[in-house]
Amino acid sequence: MFLKNCWYVAAWDHELIDGKMLPRTILEEPVLLYKSETGKIVALEDRCCHRGVPLHLGRREGDCVRCMYHGLKFDATGKCIQIPGQEMIPPKLGVKSYPVVEKDHVVWIWMGDPAKADPADIIDFPFLRDPQWTGIPDYLHYDANWLLIVDNLADFAHLAFVHTNTLGGSEEYAYVTKPVAIERMSNGFRVERWHMDAAPPPFHRKVLPAEEKDRNVDRRNIGTMFIPGIFYLQTLFSPAGSGSEKGNREGSREYCNVQFMTPETRRTTHFFWTYLNNFEGEDHNVSRSLHQSIIDGFMEDMHFIEAQQKVLDTDPDFKMLAVAADAPLSHFRWTLGKLVAAERAAETTEKASAVIPVKAPHQAGVNT
Ligand code: FES
Ligand SMILES: [Fe+2]
Repeated sequence: MFLKNCWYVAAWDHELIDGKMLPRTILEEPVLLYKSETGKIVALEDRCCHRGVPLHLGRREGDCVRCMYHGLKFDATGKCIQIPGQEMIPPKLGVKSYPVVEKDHVVWIWMGDPAKADPADIIDFPFLRDPQWTGIPDYLHYDANWLLIVDNLADFAHLAFVHTNTLGGSEEYAYVTKPVAIERMSNGFRVERWHMDAAPPPFHRKVLPAEEKDRNVDRRNIGTMFIPGIFYLQTLFSPAGSGSEKGNREGSREYCNVQFMTPETRRTTHFFWTYLNNFEGEDHNVSRSLHQSIIDGFMEDMHFIEAQQKVLDTDPDFKMLAVAADAPLSHFRWTLGKLVAAERAAETTEKASAVIPVKAPHQAGVNT
């Protein structure tokens, strides 16, 4: 069910400071992540090839890791380089290693065929390295399939009902706004929605100066979702009637929000996120306030999504019915399904061509 040949987020870089060994299951495979002494991030199968003990219970030695059960030592490529009490080390003995790339504080991992891993395919989010954009990166764990979270993010109408008192503002948002654009892409979708002349929603109101708190705003959300589950939300608030829909940005405040959904298992998800603003200057209380507001909002999402997962678990034959607003998520699931099917088909072909043909008896020199 997972697309393997693509980049997933495995961690924020701050999760690997001080030589920490971070065990993390990704696509149902146990992975150990750590930063080597040379500063390079290493991702190894978190299961010793000897007797299956997790390597994260071991000891980091320079760039290597030693399993602390019987002492086998593995280098950063996963190759076994020492077996205490044994001279000869079989050349193929070792654990799997995964391609990893650290970029703009994000640690990306490739779970598929290493030969196909191209760092150029990692989606670039320049604001993650731009000092003008500030925020606090964080992590949440979901007891739900990652696609249920993708679904949630695909429809801004949920802001009105799930987040009335946090991120949404009022139920009006669902009734009076419609997506002005839905773009179906080969690797996801893009939706855009405007809400004109309304009170600022609570999370935004909290960080506004006193004189602006009660002024209406025009609000634009542009959400882009990339396969396998990478969400980028650009939010703009401008003074109501200032013409921001025609390009005037005067008096505007903007947010950039990324959310990376990485399947842990088919029913649990790693959820990495950061919510950045471009207007706090030296006042980091804006970031702190936004961070708390967004967590409050995410807890509201989680409440629904985890409950939804439990209901879906009780009846695997239940078929969801789509409404018009589900067009982006239907496109996403359809596109992902096609890619997964193509990947599985290619794997089957590769395996079939790797099978050594059985020789007919006369070719094998057997007398019949
Ligand atoms: S299980 Fe790791 S060395 Fe034996
Ligand atoms: Fe939400």
